[in-house]
Parts: sequence; C-alpha cells; structure tokens
Amino acid sequence: MGDAISYKDLGLVNSREIFRKAVDGGYAIPAYNFNNLEQLQAIITACAETSSPVIIQVSKGARNYANETMLRYMVIGAVQMAKEMGADIPIVLHLDHGDSFELCKNCIDSGFSSIMIDGSHLPYDENVALTRQVVEYAHAHDVTVEGELGVLAGIEDDVVAEKSTYTQPEEVEDFVQKTGVDSLAISIGTSHGAFKFKLKEGESVPPLRFDILEECEKRIPGFPIVLHGASSVVPEYVALINQYGGKMDGAVGVPEDQLRQAAASAVCKINIDSDGRLAVTAKVREYLANDPGEFDPRKYLGAARNELISLIKHKNEAVLGSAGKA
Ligand code: G3H
Ligand code: 13P
Ligand code: ZN
Repeated sequence: MGDAISYKDLGLVNSREIFRKAVDGGYAIPAYNFNNLEQLQAIITACAETSSPVIIQVSKGARNYANETMLRYMVIGAVQMAKEMGADIPIVLHLDHGDSFELCKNCIDSGFSSIMIDGSHLPYDENVALTRQVVEYAHAHDVTVEGELGVLAGIEDDVVAEKSTYTQPEEVEDFVQKTGVDSLAISIGTSHGAFKFKLKEGESVPPLRFDILEECEKRIPGFPIVLHGASSVVPEYVALINQYGGKMDGAVGVPEDQLRQAAASAVCKINIDSDGRLAVTAKVREYLANDPGEFDPRKYLGAARNELISLIKHKNEAVLGSAGKA
C-alpha cells in the first residue's frame, strides 16, 4: 500500500481529551455509525448545531459497503463542512468492532483516529494479547484504543452472540493494566439491534445492571467506559414502520432515562446505530406511502435526513448531555 495517512492531517482528533472531559463533566460523547452520505451529513449538521463533540464510527460492514477510500474522502468533506458551518467541534473517526490486528492497522494507516479491537468473544488471555498488540501499534501513531470485556447479545457484524455474558468486574483492572487500552466497553444488559429484550404482555424493560457498572468504576476509578447497543428503539419510529407496511413487532430498546443515568457516570461513549436506521426507514416508508409517484431519492432521503438531524439533536441535548460541550 502507499504512504500511511495520519488522522492529524485530516483535521480529526483522538478520543483521549474528549473522554477525560466527559468523565469529569458527567456526560457521554455520542458515537453514531454511518454508511452513506445522508447519515454523515445529518450527524455533522446535528452535532455542529448542538455544539457537541462527536465520534463518527465505521464498522467493517460499512467499509465493505461504502469503500474505504470513499469513506475517507467523505470524512474529509465532513470536517470541512463542520468548519464552514462555523462549528469548531472535535471529530473522531473510529473503527467500530475491529476484529483483527490487520484491520485495525489498516484503519490506523488510512486516517482513523480511534480503533476498537473487539476480542470479547475470545478466551480472556487471547483477548488480552490481541488487544495489547493493537494498542502498541495504535499508540505509536497516537491513536486511541477501545477494548471490550463481556459479550453483548445480538449481532456484531458477522458475529452473532446468542446470549450475553455480563462483564466480570474482577477482570477489568487486570485487563486495562495489561493491555494499555484507553477505554473499555462493558456488558451490562444492552444488546445490538432493534430487538433488545423479549417482553411478555404487560412486562416492562428490565433495568440495566448498574450494580456491575458501579463495581467496574470502583476498580478503575475515572477510567472511560463505553456502552454499546444503546439505541432506545424509538417507539414512534417502530409504529410508523409498522403503519406503512413494515414488520417490526416486538422491537424494543433501552429507555432514555437509563441512558441518562449511565451518561452521568464514567460511561463516556454511547453507541447508537439502530435508532438512526429506524428513523431513516420510518421516514422513507412514510414518504413513499404518501407520495407513491415520487421517484427522486433526494425527496425521500431528504425527509429521512431531516428526521435524523432531529433525532441526533435530541440525543445530544436530552439523553447524552454532550450538547454545548465542544
Ligand atoms: O455494532 C454494530 C453496528 O451497529 C454496526 O452494524 O456491522 O451492520 O454495520 P453493521
Ligand atoms: P445499537 O444497535 O443499539 O444502535 O448499538 C450500536 C452499537 O453498539 C454499534 O457498535
Ligand atoms: Zn457495538
């Protein structure tokens, strides 16, 4: 491959400073996934307008979908767009759920400022060894690294976990110390996707395991903790999708008040992907159902983009508390 590209030349920052401020300030930085132009425009617009630091994250699937070179140029455009909006907001480009040293290295060499190495499905010692290897390469390039302990239920790219395994607080101190990671994703009852809890008639969503979070915080005080699978699965979107021909009965997510509680703790990064997907799908379905003759994608994707902007502003202002913290 050609010469490596440093994120510093792309106008990006790593996550170190913004995580420190978020832990001290009792709020969380939003990490929004993107795969296409409209999602990226919406994230940047909403975060610029709410003056929020932001992590834009790319999964392996997103790289395959959009092409890594295309994604990099989109991110350069996004940084420039934020500046032209008059917003001086920290922007991190993060690899979500990196699953190998090679993928992480490739992303670091192509301009990512932050990397997740997800060895959570591996035996503990192998997770430590793989994470350590990534940290060594990343830190040599001043790139920050997120590791994971404990397994979330649901789908993480190609890996499907049937059941979750909560993070064992006894392990976190040893893991952080041996690997040198900059942040740690933990499993306290969230899961990926739009069907996070199977509820029987009349049942409500069970609370997250804040006791495990507290135990982790005690062992690694002030250390940045990350929450994956943190979409609320906004009921209004699920209802719209079902109203306009979709089929998402039983979709349910993490209530906002629980995310607010997590954001006030050492949880300093909250990952949101599914809510954005739902917003887009709901608005596209609604638009096309109401105007079946429309065939200009700018019309229905424009409506979806507007909804995404509102959703992200709401998350930053009312859930994560990151608005005004740029
Ligand atoms: O954790 C997974 C993220 O929501 C990314 O999903 O792998 O389908 O792009 P993806
Ligand atoms: P959701 O599926 O809850 O949006 O979680 C996204 C995520 O954790 C990305 O890494
Ligand atoms: Zn995730």
